[in-house]
Amino acid sequence: MKILVARDYQHMSRLGACVVTAVLKGKPNLVLGLATGATPLGLYRELVKLYQEGRLDFSRVTTFNLDEYYGLSSSDPHSYHYYMEENFFRHINIRRENIHLPPGQPGDVAAACAAYEAAIAAAGGIDLQILGIGRNGHIGFNEPGAALNARTHLIDLAPETILANARFFASIDAVPRQAISMGMGSIMKARRILLLASGRDKAAAVAAALEGPVTTMVPASLLQLHPGVTVVLDRAAAEKLHSVVKGGGTWPACC
Ligand code: F6R
Repeated sequence: MKILVARDYQHMSRLGACVVTAVLKGKPNLVLGLATGATPLGLYRELVKLYQEGRLDFSRVTTFNLDEYYGLSSSDPHSYHYYMEENFFRHINIRRENIHLPPGQPGDVAAACAAYEAAIAAAGGIDLQILGIGRNGHIGFNEPGAALNARTHLIDLAPETILANARFFASIDAVPRQAISMGMGSIMKARRILLLASGRDKAAAVAAALEGPVTTMVPASLLQLHPGVTVVLDRAAAEKLHSVVKGGGTWPACC
């Protein structure tokens, strides 16, 4: 596992964009796994900027998002479909047919989840999966105790996740209680993983994930078993780590 500690959120975002750029340059038909939430917003801004400067081309890229709230339509401003469109897709030259997110309102949940996994497999699997981390150590919406080998499925959100995500809704009551998410098994199959975390409120989860025991009670700790993980943290999120030289690490060549 390679851990980079950035100065601040913007620097973390730039380093994350460097990692994505390096992988995309090496494989123009990249299959990219995407996350939502507050953390990757800066990364998407950086990638859009690189595209606008003519330095990145998404025309052959295929994307699969980690998750979507169950019950929200894709036009709902709180949906991850909407988030991705607003913050990334409409600003780059990705082909519409190459964009995939779990459906928020599937008629048949099991069939939709199986179809999502089949689409990932048909694309050749995920080359690079971007992840954020929840304060309880979740990745995607795989909450503490998530099954190790689970694939895309319907998940009950943990109370702390509902509380954390209430900041994006008018009230906590408006936060959906369930989501369709790639499972831990889907995430661990990605060839490479880029985990981003920013802010002091993530420091405990980051330390538990990177230096604690590997346990399903901290889903992100399973990443310790993955051979291709790069972690980019800002200083605040790295605060509780013991083994990392803050401000150290080997920066990607483009940074
Ligand atoms: C979102 C996702 C979640 C978030 C996590 C952190 O697609 O998969 O695991 O990455 O909840 O969210 P933020 O970045 O808002 O703190």
